[in-house]
Amino acid sequence: MVGRKVLRSHANIALAMAQTATSHMQTDVLNLKKRMKVTYDKYYETENLFGEPYPELIQFFAEFPVKGKVLDLGCGQGRDAIALARLGYSVTGIDNSRVGIDQMNEIGQNEKLKLVGQVGDIYAFDDFSEFEIVLLDSMFHFAKKDKAKEIGLIKKIISEIKIGCLIVVCIQDIGDKVQTLNQAIDFKERYKRLVDQEFKYVFEDSDSGHKTETGYRMIIIEK
Ligand SMILES: C[S@@+](CC[C@H](N)C(=O)[O-])C[C@H]1O[C@@H](n2cnc3c(N)ncnc32)[C@H](O)[C@@H]1O
Repeated sequence: MVGRKVLRSHANIALAMAQTATSHMQTDVLNLKKRMKVTYDKYYETENLFGEPYPELIQFFAEFPVKGKVLDLGCGQGRDAIALARLGYSVTGIDNSRVGIDQMNEIGQNEKLKLVGQVGDIYAFDDFSEFEIVLLDSMFHFAKKDKAKEIGLIKKIISEIKIGCLIVVCIQDIGDKVQTLNQAIDFKERYKRLVDQEFKYVFEDSDSGHKTETGYRMIIIEK
């Protein structure tokens, strides 16, 4: 009888150990997935990966009369955020790449720019009403698995920014991406379309020197 009890308690301990090991493994897998998601940490070992900001974007911001508060969602290494801060805007950049944010903040601090970079998930951000302009450059792909989430973010930003504030989206002009973006914005709501501009973006791979040219679209809406 006693022997059976001991056996059972050993079995319970073994089961508990197995459960603990499984839960550690699950945590490890979750952590690994989280780490794997921040793929841009690795890409940003190449400084200034995406090159210069688009001249069309800079021209718009340079000519825009009020140099207010800009939120750059997915700011990366600060390609746009740094340029806008240099134009006199107060820029907050959010990105989940610590490497990109650190590079951007270093430049901001050296040049004493009004530029703050924060590591974070743009889908968890909800202080949109603090900003006059929300910028999303190369953030939407509308791939099947992300489409609903991306459309949800656009709708959330538009609903939360104040009247008169802007949302600036730069997106690859291929397939039905622009059409999907326009549907997400829902122009029946009488938002003002300030800009709808086509341009070309040339990306040069710094290692191979290989250049690719992509059609791009910049859409700017005033709420
Ligand atoms: C194609 S890059 C564009 C970077 C920048 N907007 C530019 O045009 O130079 C996409 C950026 O979005 C960031 N990103 C993707 N998903 C994110 C999320 N959920 N939260 C925060 N940043 C994210 C990536 O780390 C990366 O820096």
